[in-house]
Amino acid sequence: MTKKFYVTTPIYYSNDIPHVGHAYTTIAADILSRWHKIKGEDVFFLTGTDDHGKKIVQAAEKAGKLPKEFTDSLIPKFKEAWKKLNLGYDRFIRTTDKDHEKIVQEILQKVFDKGDIYKGKYEGFYCTGCEAYYTEKDLEKEFCPIHKTKIEKLKEESYFFKLSKYQKPLLDLYKKNPDFISPKTRKQEIINRVKDGLKDLSISRTSFNWGVPLPFDKKHVAYVWFDALFNYYSATRQKGKEKFWPADVHFIGKDILWFHTVYWPAFLLSAGIELPKRVFAHGWWTFDKEKISKSRGKVLGVNELTGIAGVDSARYFLFRESVFGEDADFSEKALIDRHNNELADKLGNLISRVSALAEKYGIEKCENKLLKKLNLNEIEKLFSNYELDKVLNEIFGFIDSCNEYIQSKKPWETHDKKVLYELCDSIKAIAILLYPFIPETSEKIAKNFGFEIKLDNIKKPLAVKKIKKNEILFKKIEVNNG
Ligand code: MSP
Repeated sequence: MTKKFYVTTPIYYSNDIPHVGHAYTTIAADILSRWHKIKGEDVFFLTGTDDHGKKIVQAAEKAGKLPKEFTDSLIPKFKEAWKKLNLGYDRFIRTTDKDHEKIVQEILQKVFDKGDIYKGKYEGFYCTGCEAYYTEKDLEKEFCPIHKTKIEKLKEESYFFKLSKYQKPLLDLYKKNPDFISPKTRKQEIINRVKDGLKDLSISRTSFNWGVPLPFDKKHVAYVWFDALFNYYSATRQKGKEKFWPADVHFIGKDILWFHTVYWPAFLLSAGIELPKRVFAHGWWTFDKEKISKSRGKVLGVNELTGIAGVDSARYFLFRESVFGEDADFSEKALIDRHNNELADKLGNLISRVSALAEKYGIEKCENKLLKKLNLNEIEKLFSNYELDKVLNEIFGFIDSCNEYIQSKKPWETHDKKVLYELCDSIKAIAILLYPFIPETSEKIAKNFGFEIKLDNIKKPLAVKKIKKNEILFKKIEVNNG
């Protein structure tokens, strides 16, 4: 049976245009999705938007629009940005999609019937920017620790989810599935907080109506996180998609790890639904060491990002520069340096020299001994641990070996067709392995050298055909130091 792979991104609040922080997670999911596709697996890659909640209501009011009309106007911006970045998702889900709302209602009813939801009164602090509840001790005076905005005090009738009941099952889960919270470095903090005790969670609001109505009390709408988290599951209730649940991995940013590793599994346990295999939290991109975020004013849009050195260079940079899981600082100069020194000088140069020589002297099939320098097993292992920077490091190590080989064998003097074959066959391996990161470039190489982008093709010798000098793949960018 074909293996399946299901990867998700957070669903982004549709209150503004997407920025590099959103792009980062979505490219990561695209990389993994493409990797599993070239391995021949059946892949489902889900992304989308979080359209409900108070944050959206406020942004819509500010824009003088109704929430639905307002979010509708932002969706094309997300889709355009994802198209620009060459992101091949399989579904773009919105929490306003009818199939999703129906599933959320069914689950609310199920959890209510089970006795895990009860009526009470919520009195406490709420940050609309985070769409999260806070206790007095979490706050910095009266301000949100993340947004630094003054926090609202809520007092309203609300339904509560019995989160406290799930303390032990959650602790058992973290023990039984040590990878559930990844990377390891982020695990202990969650475990300690859960050990400290869990309070029941307010899961409904009455002060606005932009949300999924509770099926058992229509005066209330579901708390935005109860609604949003279920997108991952509701997308798999469509015909033909059922096999994808449970998700193999939810990629998220570190700021929403609590919601995904505490609330989410507790809701699923209560609803009797199988749990996802892994939640992987990456770090934050800072811009001159400040978090890039729309609510704090530092934003780098997708067009600005791709405008620096093109789409593939942007995708490559984000995963070469950061250790996936840790914070990283964005700088235009670092992106241009990597574009020039790695993509243009190392990769681009290799392809253009080899293709030019192959065009001139031809190639002759032989055993490719150079390929022995490629550690494919290691690359596969690194991919399965999401060590994406290290994957790139390995591939570029092999590119270095190819560049050294051409220097030492001097095929421009010897006209050795066999050496040129080894180099062309090695380029096939490089392009296939780089495809998840820089798909457009890999496709151009594959077309010229005549192979299909499939992992299995690395081990199959390249068929001999006429190769032409490749067009320049990465033009060097002049750095303006003034
Ligand atoms: N709607 C919720 C997610 C619900 S998922 C069921 C949400 N949306 S968001 O639009 O505010 O943010 C989505 C993601 O973007 C988060 O994972 C967050 O970590 C990420 N990023 C926002 N700014 C970021 C950076 N500067 N760097 C990296 N990622 C960051 O939260």
